[in-house]
Amino acid sequence: MKYLSLLFSGIMLCSFVGTAAAQDRQDECYACHASMEDDASQAFATDVHRNGGLTCASCHGGDASLDDMDEGMSSARGFKGVPAGKAISATCGGCHDDKERMGALGFDGTTGQLTALRNSAHSRGSGATASPLMECTHCHGAHGIRPARDPASRVSRRNVVALCSSCHDNPRYMQQYNPSLPTDQLAKYRTSVHGQRNARGDSRAAACPDCHMAHEIRPASAASSSVNAMNIPMTCGKCHGDAKYMEPYGIPTNQLALFRGSVHGKSLLEKRDVSAPSCNDCHGNHGAAPPNVESIGNVCGTCHALNAELFRASRHAVEFEKAGYPECETCHGNHDVRPATAELLALGAGSLCGSCHSTENAPEGFRAAKVMHVLLDSLRNTVALAERRIDDAEQKGMEIEDVRFSLRDARQARLQARTAVHAFSVEKFSEVLDPGLLIARQALIDAEAANDDYYFRRSGLAIATLIITVTVILLFLYIRRIEQQQRSRKQAVS
Ligand code: HEC
Ligand code: HEC
Ligand code: HEC
Ligand code: HEC
Ligand code: HEC
Ligand code: HEC
Ligand code: HEC
Ligand code: HEC
Ligand code: HEC
Ligand code: HEC
Ligand code: HEC
Repeated sequence: MKYLSLLFSGIMLCSFVGTAAAQDRQDECYACHASMEDDASQAFATDVHRNGGLTCASCHGGDASLDDMDEGMSSARGFKGVPAGKAISATCGGCHDDKERMGALGFDGTTGQLTALRNSAHSRGSGATASPLMECTHCHGAHGIRPARDPASRVSRRNVVALCSSCHDNPRYMQQYNPSLPTDQLAKYRTSVHGQRNARGDSRAAACPDCHMAHEIRPASAASSSVNAMNIPMTCGKCHGDAKYMEPYGIPTNQLALFRGSVHGKSLLEKRDVSAPSCNDCHGNHGAAPPNVESIGNVCGTCHALNAELFRASRHAVEFEKAGYPECETCHGNHDVRPATAELLALGAGSLCGSCHSTENAPEGFRAAKVMHVLLDSLRNTVALAERRIDDAEQKGMEIEDVRFSLRDARQARLQARTAVHAFSVEKFSEVLDPGLLIARQALIDAEAANDDYYFRRSGLAIATLIITVTVILLFLYIRRIEQQQRSRKQAVS
């Protein structure tokens, strides 16, 4: 009787809610529980499932059309009670992993969250035998679930950072599962532009699931992970390549396009060479404030250590610092780094060195560019010419392998000279390049000699052949004369 009156006042209460009234008539479970003001029903008042016409029985079983508690909540009517452990996600997955069923319920969003979760880092092992680390309710809760886009949802960009960090920022908790996993993500994230904007309520800056996904979270080492080096450019590019999405910020949205065409992007994405940088190798995973000039300079140097060392000891380092130019970007760019060629030292209109150096302005740099360009060109040309002459000689059957071998050192010197450019000193540059030039010249001389030798031998052969031929002809004529003499002698005898 007590429940009946509670139920009654519950219905009265809910009829004020207006639009929800229609659902209440079918959801006697809700009506009765709401009248008890229990946590479940209070939270359920705003639940996405309730708004979608589902009832308490959609998850707990039973018959929602009966206002009799014992009847409605009887196992005969399919009541399952309170799910626990894996049964929780199985309940959610019963709908959310069933595309057809979800379609029939009027939901055309993403499905398959259970499968994704069970194959993620948040599960040990995979598939049916998985030992899950968490269920759907760890992130979404059980009642009061809201659409992910709703800012009040536990998984919205506004709230999800706290949600993920409730475990990941807790060393004692994380240690139980994976002691080697860092727990500084939140701290670092808060130093990034993303984290700072997120903390101020910006709803577009990347939050944890934007980079890691929500359900299919995997360690970076997994090829299918959204934060695997190969996939990172697309993950970041989702937003940073979308001009409309990024419009409010007024920053360029060409990073992904430029990166794809760069020496780094081609190496990473086409040659699949993971020693080339992906976006996060330069920008950090969670952290590091926006790439200001100094930190980025250090970034190039983490891989191109020798270039950086030479540069930092050069006059340019001092001058660039004074003028506020970034150390490597000034000459190579950042997302559109191209293969380096001697053209970088050219001095025509729009040239690199020429943009700061001329015969009047800082002429030492102008002269240096010219000298280095000429020297690099002449080394390259000499090596190329020597190679051609060696090929020629080899085709003629000359033994010249050791000369070809010596060219390796010349090529090596050329590679080292391209690095030595960064000392921005003709003297230091020459120390590296000159030995290579000497080797290449010697190789060219040796190759020419081998070719000459061949012609010398060939002309010797021709003379010998001529002598032999002449001798044979003379011999032939001589023999013929003897024969004729013999014949005429015979005729004279007879
Ligand atoms: C007329 C009132 C009434 C109706 C109708 C009703 N319930 Fe309940 N329900 C209760 C009460 C009271 C309890 C607490 C019982 C207890 O603690 O033993 C309860 C308990 C529960 C529990 C917790 C069980 C547990 O083991 O802790 C669930 C889940 C539940 N109800 C779901 C439902 C569902 C689903 C329906 C509809 C199919 C429903 N209820 C219909 C009154 C009702
Ligand atoms: C979307 C599925 C879903 C719907 C719909 C749902 N529940 Fe639950 N409910 C759960 C899950 C899952 C649990 C277990 C929660 C846990 O262990 O964290 C639960 C737990 C409960 C409990 C146990 C105590 C508690 O609060 O955790 C009660 C009581 C309950 N539900 C009642 C209801 C009532 C009443 C309704 C309708 C007003 C309802 N539930 C609708 C999924 C649902
Ligand atoms: C680790 C936390 C976490 C767990 C566990 C989790 N989710 Fe989510 N879920 C999220 C986040 C975060 C979003 C928001 C997605 C986004 O921002 O792109 C989301 C979004 C969703 C959506 C909206 C559609 C979509 O995929 O974006 C559905 C439906 C959903 N989750 C269902 C589930 C189900 C069912 C389970 C259990 C099998 C589950 N979730 C487990 C965090 C989680
Ligand atoms: C009976 C089928 C069914 C069950 C069981 C179910 N859901 Fe849903 N869920 C739906 C439907 C249908 C919607 C779409 C409701 C709407 O938008 O009107 C939905 C919506 C959602 C959303 C919001 C999706 C969005 O667009 O952002 C989340 C999150 C979600 N469910 C999580 C869960 C979780 C967690 C569980 C288990 C505790 C669960 N669901 C159990 C059918 C179900
Ligand atoms: C309930 C606690 C909990 C919550 C909430 C949680 N995680 Fe985790 N997460 C873990 C645990 C524990 C592991 C370690 C699993 C292992 O290594 O065995 C993990 C692993 C990960 C990994 C893989 C790390 C690696 O490289 O091995 C990532 C990435 C991750 N979580 C991101 C997230 C994100 C993003 C969210 C929020 C959407 C989130 N987690 C929410 C507990 C949690
Ligand atoms: C802008 C993208 C981005 C955001 C936002 C982001 N992460 Fe990460 N996260 C990464 C990348 C990239 C890696 C590492 C990949 C690698 O190791 O190469 C990573 C690694 C991780 C790892 C593995 C351990 C580690 O630190 O290397 C965990 C755990 C993790 N992130 C959790 C989180 C949590 C929690 C948040 C939110 C507070 C978050 N991430 C936000 C991109 C992001
Ligand atoms: C969910 C969309 C989203 C994703 C995914 C995302 N970002 Fe962002 N990012 C933003 C927004 C919005 C800003 C704020 C722009 C601003 O303040 O100028 C931003 C800012 C930045 C900035 C600072 C720009 C500045 O103004 O100096 C950098 C650098 C950056 N992101 C790099 C990355 C990298 C690297 C990744 C991938 C690992 C990534 N972002 C993933 C949305 C995103
Ligand atoms: C080789 C290192 C490197 C890589 C790889 C890299 N960036 Fe950058 N990025 C930089 C530098 C350096 C700047 C700083 C520009 C400045 O401050 O002058 C920058 C600036 C940015 C900015 C601020 C706006 C702008 O264009 O100046 C965003 C956003 C950004 N990068 C996103 C990305 C994304 C997305 C990727 C991957 C597709 C990526 N970056 C790859 C070095 C890199
Ligand atoms: C994570 C390591 C890494 C970082 C960081 C990095 N690079 Fe590279 N870079 C490489 C690798 C590896 C290659 C060789 C790619 C290839 O040839 O396939 C390369 C190639 C180059 C080349 C072309 C070299 C040639 O032989 O033509 C230039 C120029 C260059 N990087 C400049 C930069 C600049 C400038 C930065 C900073 C904005 C930078 N790199 C940051 C690894 C890195
Ligand atoms: C003043 C302009 C300038 C600056 C500043 C500069 N470079 Fe260079 N870089 C060049 C020139 C010129 C070449 C030689 C091209 C050639 O002859 O092939 C070159 C070649 C390279 C190469 C290819 C040769 C090699 O060493 O493998 C890399 C890599 C490179 N630079 C990286 C860097 C890095 C890293 C920085 C910052 C520490 C930097 N550069 C700063 C002009 C510059
Ligand atoms: C962004 C402007 C800028 C660019 C580009 C630039 N330089 Fe310079 N360079 C300077 C400045 C400024 C000085 C100091 C000149 C002075 O005060 O006499 C300098 C000085 C030099 C010096 C003299 C070093 C010394 O020890 O005195 C050399 C050599 C030089 N640059 C070579 C080059 C070459 C080669 C290039 C092209 C690869 C180049 N520079 C590109 C600005 C630049």
